[in-house]
Amino acid sequence: MEAPAARRRPAQRPVDAIMAQKERRIAPVTRSREQARRAYDRTSRWYDLLAGGIEARYRNAALEMLAAVRGDVVLELGFGSGHAVAALAAAVGRAGRVYGVDISARMVAVARSRAGSAGLAERVCLQQGDALRLPYQSAVFDKIFMSFVLELFDTPEIPAVLRECYRTLRPGGRICVAALSRQGGSRLMTRLYERVHEKLPQYFDCRPIYAQSALEQAGFRTLSRREMPLLGLCVELVLSQRSPAAVP
Ligand SMILES: C[S@@+](CC[C@H](N)C(=O)[O-])C[C@H]1O[C@@H](n2cnc3c(N)ncnc32)[C@H](O)[C@@H]1O
Repeated sequence: MEAPAARRRPAQRPVDAIMAQKERRIAPVTRSREQARRAYDRTSRWYDLLAGGIEARYRNAALEMLAAVRGDVVLELGFGSGHAVAALAAAVGRAGRVYGVDISARMVAVARSRAGSAGLAERVCLQQGDALRLPYQSAVFDKIFMSFVLELFDTPEIPAVLRECYRTLRPGGRICVAALSRQGGSRLMTRLYERVHEKLPQYFDCRPIYAQSALEQAGFRTLSRREMPLLGLCVELVLSQRSPAAVP
């Protein structure tokens, strides 16, 4: 029998080569999904005290960029204690809906209670789950929101999370991501922070990524981008759109 012809590896496109180089420099995530779930369960009651004050500015700026309106059906991934869920539910009105997935059951409870106290429970549907496998049909959301969540996923998982976002957004739908960024900010502070993340991933679990590049690689078109400083680091806010017609 004739030996099969040796397969040639397709030449890498320059843009892929650049992305591969960038990705190699992003710090890896060493914590398992189960460890992440337990960590957020443990901190759910204190989360606002520990991180709430720091994150609010960026989250609010990102919510403004997403600009949810009456009647929108919105999804939030990793909603934590539910501040953005409540803001989104107020914005979408009675005719709209806010869905959410978070890996921590206790965070789900805290966020539900916040929505309930604000009288918004009827517009909100939150559940425990993994953003890598969204329990929704395709093309059902007008908008998707994520703040300080995408950078918790290991580098090879980021495209998979964004594929799920692309799948569940309707054509022309928008996504806004706020994430610690490797672009902008002081290089020294970014490297220092990455060292701290490496040594103490249980306390400093977010690590800087390239949110805009990741979104564009997933097929989204950038509509606007903003950089905000955070103690010498940079938070990147990116508003992107799923193509109005094409399938990825
Ligand atoms: C850093 S907190 C950010 C919370 C909130 N977005 C905010 O800005 O205040 C990250 C949240 O993502 C959730 N999370 C972590 N891994 C997740 C996963 N694989 N799927 C869904 N949620 C996840 C955590 O439980 C936590 O609530």
